[in-house]
Amino acid sequence: MQALLVVLLINAFIFILCALVALSGQFLRQSGEADLTVNKGVAHQVGRGQSLLPALAEAGVFLPAACGGKGTCGRCEVKVIAGGSAVTPMETILLSPQHLQALARLACQVKIRQNIEIEVAESLLAAKLLRARLESSQTVAEDIKTLQFSIQGNEELVFKPGQYLQIFYQMPWERVLRAYSISSPDSVKNGFSLDVQRVSGGVVSSYLHQLQPGVELEISGPFGEMFLSDENAHYPIILVAGGVGLAPLRSILEKLRELGFQKPVWLFHGARSRRNLYCEEYFRDLAKSNESFRYFPALSNPLLEEGWVGSRGMIHELLEQQQFADAAAVVAFVCGPTPMMQAVTKVLVAKGVASDRILTDPFDFS
Ligand SMILES: Cc1cc2nc3c(=O)[nH]c(=O)nc-3n(C[C@H](O)[C@H](O)[C@H](O)COP(=O)(O)OP(=O)(O)OC[C@H]3O[C@@H](n4cnc5c(N)ncnc54)[C@H](O)[C@@H]3O)c2cc1C
Ligand code: FES
Repeated sequence: MQALLVVLLINAFIFILCALVALSGQFLRQSGEADLTVNKGVAHQVGRGQSLLPALAEAGVFLPAACGGKGTCGRCEVKVIAGGSAVTPMETILLSPQHLQALARLACQVKIRQNIEIEVAESLLAAKLLRARLESSQTVAEDIKTLQFSIQGNEELVFKPGQYLQIFYQMPWERVLRAYSISSPDSVKNGFSLDVQRVSGGVVSSYLHQLQPGVELEISGPFGEMFLSDENAHYPIILVAGGVGLAPLRSILEKLRELGFQKPVWLFHGARSRRNLYCEEYFRDLAKSNESFRYFPALSNPLLEEGWVGSRGMIHELLEQQQFADAAAVVAFVCGPTPMMQAVTKVLVAKGVASDRILTDPFDFS
């Protein structure tokens, strides 16, 4: 009885604390507004107390924020001409002293305390806000679902295969965002698919996994420098994915398939066990019907009952065993956890692939 009372008291305390945090956030926002001027344009009124990243979103400017605003990806860089808050320790890690001197800042680290004037690179102004409706949700592997969305209104999603979107999710006390790669080809303009892995204790991935068709989400994008350009589509291509890192590579592969595989394409996909591997049957069939396409799955921990007779081990080890004619012409796309991408890049370089032709996009910024 006493223990139950203690648990109840602790829960009540946590609840009151959360409510206070939420209220203080609201209070800070309501305690005034400031002018936000972007590229010498019209000033936007934004709430004080918040960081520049969501304030910019209020003003219709959607910056890439792969780490979700934790200050660890360095993608939300802007120039603060006047009115910025003090430089944070995260900024001193990610921005060089010369950069800081040239007024570079990370938008997620700058707090709006007064009128503020900033410059945003023109190339970052293309992303827009869209509403997307979930049409279907299909489990494709253990903890991975493919979600099909349609774009609402008269908007179109124009992106390059390999790019990602940012999903907004409203928590009781703040709006958060997370990056998810588009796994469908860019030929589809009125919709897109995402492959989402549920992360244990993860806020947004858990939310997306329990979503029912009909729900609408706010998304911004497209973002990302790892994409298939028109020029690269004419070179031999190596795609290497770790787990759900397959998502952007699926989009690239579909584009190459639509173009009729003009040059050889190799897909390497690493997973823990067969239940974590997805699209296996589709890729095997594709490899049977297209001799330019080759598929190499590898499992690091196959389960006995899965009867796996394919390659075992880490994906970079399987890559190491292959020979690539004309490696100097190869363009490689690598996506997955950072240690896997580092190991793969090392192997590719040793095989003769030029490092500036190896395009990567890490999923993990902690
Ligand atoms: C450019 C980019 C593209 C991405 N594309 C995809 C995609 O196509 N599909 C996809 O499923 N995810 C993708 N991600 C990862 C995604 O953005 C989220 O980080 C992930 O879904 C976890 O978010 P969450 O809110 O569920 O977890 P959080 O609530 O943010 O985190 C909860 C816990 O999980 C840990 N964690 C956070 N992220 C990961 C992770 N990726 N792996 C393991 N542990 C983690 C955290 O350290 C924390 O302990 C991408 C990330 C980037 C940067
Ligand atoms: S969003 Fe600012 S550093 Fe990642």
